[in-house]
Amino acid sequence: MPDAPSNDAPYRLIDDVEFGENVVVYSFTNLYGCSIGDDTRIGTFVEIQRGARIGAACKIQSHTFICDGITIGDGVFVGHGVMFINDKRPRATADGGALQTEDDWELLETTIEDGASLGSGSVILGGVTVGAGAIVGAGAVVTRDVPAGATVAGVPARVPDSSFA
Ligand SMILES: CC(C)(COP(=O)(O)OP(=O)(O)OC[C@H]1O[C@@H](n2cnc3c(N)ncnc32)[C@H](O)[C@@H]1OP(=O)(O)O)[C@@H](O)C(=O)NCCC(=O)NCCS
Repeated sequence: MPDAPSNDAPYRLIDDVEFGENVVVYSFTNLYGCSIGDDTRIGTFVEIQRGARIGAACKIQSHTFICDGITIGDGVFVGHGVMFINDKRPRATADGGALQTEDDWELLETTIEDGASLGSGSVILGGVTVGAGAIVGAGAVVTRDVPAGATVAGVPARVPDSSFA
């Protein structure tokens, strides 16, 4: 298994990442403690945190943030500036005023199934599943599970009354 991306690009921070074959990582990325499957492409200004898992043949577009607790399947398109969330009620400090540690909050796990697409600027709340082949519209806020093959949009994201084309 390779211990680096297949391409060269300046200004990447890569620490303790499990790479598949032929992974391409562009500049100004910050990847640590995550895994990335074969042939996946990671755009500029993407951060992927410890504990996140990305499948094979995915496209992760620029300016996206993928946090701990996120599992992305194979062939998934993640648009520009997609934000994942893993803490529903975040606080800076714990009781007593000290900064929170990992023990002070509940990690919510999220799954994006194979072949799904997440539109640019969408926000994916923690603890949801976006089903296989589903499409999340640009700018949507996903608060509930999205059925496989569905197209959802809006805030909160819903399947529209009259279906999309
Ligand atoms: C959700 C989406 C797939 C729907 O596409 P579509 O089926 O062709 O839908 P239409 O463009 O025909 O729009 C149908 C209706 O939904 C609305 N709509 C479309 N996209 C929307 C969105 N992201 N959020 C809210 N409403 C949306 C339209 O305004 C239209 O409403 P109207 O009938 O009242 O005018 C698409 O608009 C979208 O957001 N795709 C994501 C694109 C993206 O982020 N790409 C990233 C790489 S560039």
